[in-house]
Order: sequence, then structure tokens, then C-alpha cells
Amino acid sequence: MISKIDVLLGLQWGDEGKGKIVDVLTPDYDIIARFQGGPNAGHTLEFDGIKHILHIIPSGIFHKEKKNLIGNGVLVEPVIFKKEIESLLSKGVDAKLNLLISNKAHLILPTHRLIDAANETFKGSAKIGSTLKGIGPAYTDKVARLAMRIGDIMSADCLQMYNKLKESHIRYINSLGFTLNSFQIDGFSLEEYERLWFEALNTLKQFSIIDSEYYINDALNSGKRVLAEGAQGSMLDIDFGSYPFVTSSNTVTAGVCTGLGVAPARIGNVYGICKAYCTRVGSGPFPTELFDKDGEVLREKGREYGSTTGRPRRCGWIDLPALRYACMLNGVTHLVIMKIDVLNDFDEIKVCDRYEINGQDTERVPYDIVTSQIHPVYSSYRGWKQDISGICHYEQLPQAMKQYIDSLESKLGIKIAVISTSPDRKDTIYKDII
Ligand code: GDP
Ligand code: IMO
Ligand code: MG
Repeated sequence: MISKIDVLLGLQWGDEGKGKIVDVLTPDYDIIARFQGGPNAGHTLEFDGIKHILHIIPSGIFHKEKKNLIGNGVLVEPVIFKKEIESLLSKGVDAKLNLLISNKAHLILPTHRLIDAANETFKGSAKIGSTLKGIGPAYTDKVARLAMRIGDIMSADCLQMYNKLKESHIRYINSLGFTLNSFQIDGFSLEEYERLWFEALNTLKQFSIIDSEYYINDALNSGKRVLAEGAQGSMLDIDFGSYPFVTSSNTVTAGVCTGLGVAPARIGNVYGICKAYCTRVGSGPFPTELFDKDGEVLREKGREYGSTTGRPRRCGWIDLPALRYACMLNGVTHLVIMKIDVLNDFDEIKVCDRYEINGQDTERVPYDIVTSQIHPVYSSYRGWKQDISGICHYEQLPQAMKQYIDSLESKLGIKIAVISTSPDRKDTIYKDII
């Protein structure tokens, strides 16, 4: 029997809890595959008292019998990759046994990271708030047909290719008025970091580097179950996010086709992950952002500090126009609501049903989201004011919470399949059985 590829991705501005749910769903799959993004991602998994944050490696890695694939659409930064491998080893996980890498995935060079820093500094107050992992510059080189791919590290010309690209980066950095000493990379000079980078290539070479598009299609043809794991979120998509405050890849379902080499007709279920509220890290529009005590409560109770950079995340109420937009773009078949426990103590919970822009009501995300004065129009829900830890069945959840969930379901027109009530793998409630 031929299988379809299921997709799991974020519907908001990232950090929805994708890592946790991939880990929870992994037992149902044979292969977990990342299709875009790179070390800008930080996916947190918690189980058996262990907390682990993954950046480039797919979140199925803790399940030894499952394969994990870094697809061609992903960017690999060798030093960060090596650190992740070592960190997994310290937890008894040898990723060499079940991690495969596409030979067509692109490399992030040390100078890509310097360019990221130079671009952001040059932009001043208009900066994007990038994670400074070199994502924008590396995807820019990919599209400009200048970049290096994982397959190139095996080539005798590797050093020559590296130096040629580095030279062009230096010229660019100088053109912005900076020198190579203007910035550091994670506290290292370029020279020091380059040494670590080349050392890390040796780690990369120990992995199975494959034609992953054949691998995935052969697997699907033989009935294997594959889950594509998204990074970032739909509102950070390069085409549909709040441009230019976005990342540099297609984070939506369409990215699975190009980022793994599967045809559109092979897409199966699409699990859309969203928080019961909203967060955003970095700059850019955020219509429901709260600047009051409620925002602070969400941040502290939800431990809303970046998994990759440690920056405080901006917090606000759930935004249905943005969520509807994301569901439309992705063809979401199942919704997964995360962090509902963070709302436990609120007397009143708000939901943004639509926006008011220049006196007009709209349920659509406007083109000029960056410059528009958007006023969210809210409806209010009674809080449940109850600790929900330990509850495993939907029926046992407080009545007021079920009303809130039912209302989200009917306003979005999509079934809620899963509700997450803590960071831990075990605190996951199935509503509509998948
Ligand atoms: P990802 O990038 O989408 O994988 O999400 P992150 O890992 O960056 O951020 C999600 C954060 O919320 C992590 O710290 C998770 O451990 C935590 N988390 C996930 N699900 C829940 C939940 O249901 N309740 C609470 N309180 N925390 C959660
Ligand atoms: P996960 O996979 C949240 C944000 C950055 C910045 C913008 C561009 O953990 O959900 P980039 O480094 O790509 O140049 O940054 O996108 N950003 C994320 N925000 N979660 C992420 O990943 C993010 N990856 C990038 O903060 O605003
Ligand atoms: Mg994250």
C-alpha cells in the first residue's frame, strides 16, 4: 500500500510546541523529516524528567527505532550540528544510528552568520530580530546559486568553494561599512570559528548522506509512514508571513513538497499546532500583543523565553484571523492546542475574532499588516480557574475550558485533535481520535 506523508507545523509565529507533539506522535511513524529552516529553530521535548532542545535534528530522534531525516530544504550549520550530536550522546542517544542527511541540504558558513549580524546592525531600529544563525544569508546564496551543499563536503574542491564564497561575503560585509572584526560568532572571532567549523565537517561526514528525495519516495511507496516536521510558523513564512519580519523559507505545507521532494498529491493529514494564546519573538506586527499584566502572566506562567536565543517572547491573546489564514494556507486537517494550562488562573480569557482597521471590520489578514493600525475585536470567555494537571481524558476537563475549546473549533471550522496541558510528553489529551 502506498502511503501519504503527514505534516506537522506551526500556525502562529513559531514556538507553538511542535517539538513536543512530534515526539508524542513519533511512535505512529517510521520516519520523521525536517523540510525547512535550520538552527533558528528550537524544539523542546520533555519526558522522564529530561528536557532537551533540538535545533537542526528532527524531534523523533529519541525514538531509537525510528529514522530521522534532515531534508534538502534545511540549512545545516556544522558547529551547531556537532554540538547537538554531542549533547544527545551525553543523554545516551547515538544519532549516527538513525539520522540521515540529504546531500542537497545547504550549508551555513561562518561568514553567513557575520552577514546576518552586519545586516541587522545596518538596519538599526528596523532590524528583524533574527536569531543570527545565518539563515537569511544562507538561503540568499542558495537562491543566487552560489551556495555549498552537504554533498560538497566530500568534494576535493570543498576548500576552494568555501574560500570563493567567503571572499564574496567579506566584500559584502565591507560594502556595509563593517570589517571582519566588527562582529563575533557566539563569542569567537571568525578565525577561531572557522577552525571549529572545519572540525565539525568531520562529524558531519560520519553520517549517512543520501539522495533523500528517493529515500522518502521509496519509503512512501513501500507503505512506510512519514511525518514532516515544520520549523518556525506560518506567520513567519517568506511569502505569507508579516513580510519583511519573517524567516527566509516557506514554513507552510507547500514547503514540504520542495523541502523533501514529495509531490503535492502525496500530502496526507496536516496537523496545525497553535498555542491557546499567541507569542512572537523578534520584531514585527503582532495585532493581539498585550503590554499589561495579562501579557506578563502569560510570559511567566508559560515560561515564554526563546529556546534558541533566550529572549523574552512577546505575548498576547489568540488571534483567529491569523489562525484562519494559516489553516487556509496549510490545508490543516487537525488542530492541536498547546499550553492551555497557562490560562488556568485567568478570570477572563479573550479571543480575537476579527480586526478593525480604519473603522472597517475584517476577518482577513491585511497586505499592509506592518503599517496598518489594527485593533483586535475580542470576545470574552469565563476562565476555569482550576489546576488541570493529571487530567488525561477530555471529558474530565473543566466545563468552561471545554466551552472555550468548542468555540475555537466552531469559529475555525476544524476539529481539535489534541490538547496539551504541560511540557511533558505524558500530558497530552486526545479529543478527536486521529
Ligand atoms: P517549538 O519551537 O514549536 O517546538 O516550541 P518551543 O519548544 O520553542 O516552545 C514551546 C515551549 O512550551 C517549550 O518550553 C515546551 O516545553 C513548552 N510546552 C509545550 N507544550 C506545553 C504545554 O502544553 N503546557 C506548557 N505549560 N508548556 C508547554
Ligand atoms: P521554532 O522552529 C520563533 C523568528 C526570529 C525573527 C525572524 C527571523 O522554534 O518555532 P531568522 O533567524 O530566521 O532570520 O529570524 O523569525 N524566528 C523564530 N521565532 N520560533 C522559531 O523557530 C523561529 N525561527 C525564527 O525571532 O523574528
Ligand atoms: Mg521554538
